[in-house]
Amino acid sequence: MCTNLETRHLRGLGRSVSALGAGCWTIGGPATNRGVPIGWDHVDSGRAFAGLLHAHDLGVTLYDTADVYGLGRSERLLGRLLSLVRRSDLVISSKVGYLASAAHPYADGQMRRQLECTLANLGTNYLDVYFFHSTDFGEGDQYLPGAIKQMRALVEHGLVRAVGMRAPHTFALEWATGPSHERCTHEAARFLHLYEEIRPDVLTVRHNLLSPLYTPDETDVFDLAESQGVGVIIKQALGQGVLLGTHCPDRMRAFRQGDHRRQDPMFTPEALHEVHHGLASVREHFGEAVSDLARVALRYALARDPAAPVLVGFRDAEQINTTITSLGEALTTAEITWLHQLLAPLRDAFTARMAKSHAPCPSVRRLPSGMGAPTIKE
Ligand SMILES: NC(=O)c1ccc[n+]([C@@H]2O[C@H](COP(=O)([O-])OP(=O)(O)OC[C@H]3O[C@@H](n4cnc5c(N)ncnc54)[C@H](OP(=O)(O)O)[C@@H]3O)[C@@H](O)[C@H]2O)c1
Repeated sequence: MCTNLETRHLRGLGRSVSALGAGCWTIGGPATNRGVPIGWDHVDSGRAFAGLLHAHDLGVTLYDTADVYGLGRSERLLGRLLSLVRRSDLVISSKVGYLASAAHPYADGQMRRQLECTLANLGTNYLDVYFFHSTDFGEGDQYLPGAIKQMRALVEHGLVRAVGMRAPHTFALEWATGPSHERCTHEAARFLHLYEEIRPDVLTVRHNLLSPLYTPDETDVFDLAESQGVGVIIKQALGQGVLLGTHCPDRMRAFRQGDHRRQDPMFTPEALHEVHHGLASVREHFGEAVSDLARVALRYALARDPAAPVLVGFRDAEQINTTITSLGEALTTAEITWLHQLLAPLRDAFTARMAKSHAPCPSVRRLPSGMGAPTIKE
């Protein structure tokens, strides 16, 4: 294993991990769950496994998977890597909550059964982080107290070291706790409610060049997590590939059955066109090779929180090699400011596009006014 890759101290877990982690969603390949496409097409498991081996050779120590990625295929591929290396050298996260089953994924006893399946797939006897993948806890959150209890029992039995949950794509504490706010109040209040109930150790957050920026008066999810010693793992730093210039309008790709991008608003021809044109000056300034754009995307994400590792998805050894070896020098403050200003119109258009595509959460609850807000970092 090469040891040149930078490391970060992941809060919440209290472990050092490689600054770039291997996101293992893609390598699960195409899949559908409850009739919805949830995978990635054109994935060859031999090539995907070679990618995992190469990630390990490059010094990657953080690997993120889920029961639902390829309906177990991703976990099993990762299990093949684990059979060849020392388990304790790696940090492995998996997730529960989306896989269709007879019972609700969070029904009594179901999480333990699902975890046993995950551990068997991975060939290990514990997870470093186990995420509540879905925030659907049934009608009126009927499964929420039981799910929290089950998760705590998994921790007590030594099967899980840290508890994770996902953060919404846009969030500011003030939207959730202040008087009715025009921006995402319901989604923010819902997240804060679950966050207070679950008290996670680690959050996953989507953060990339197109993510919204917040005013100095707003406490975003990174500030909230840092103020409470909660770890953050960044996902989708490459914008699922669209920030690498590989989806240009003259090379539009058709996504086959089982690929989630068939239904993703980010992958419509209009959205891809918008991003491609919006990034023209970035290509001009930093270079247009995939490695140039990967460096900008990854360095931008890594700059947000010095303790947050960034996951990168990949389908083979060539992709993971390009992204990891592209890391190079950090971006300067001036470059980050320039990117903030340059990309404002694209960021706003993207945020609006994503907001339009998300129906409001059906089980939203406003917080009772007396509910204590988490400590805010000064
Ligand atoms: N907790 C959660 O709810 C959650 C949600 C989403 C993701 N995640 C985690 O975060 C990880 C990362 O997110 P992500 O995989 O969605 O997106 P990502 O890392 O932003 O993008 C990954 C995709 O970019 C393309 N790509 C990567 N390297 C490339 C290269 N060198 N050249 C050309 N294309 C390249 C590949 O797609 P193509 O080859 O098809 O273009 C690859 O699948 C996931 O794998 C998963 O582990 C977690």
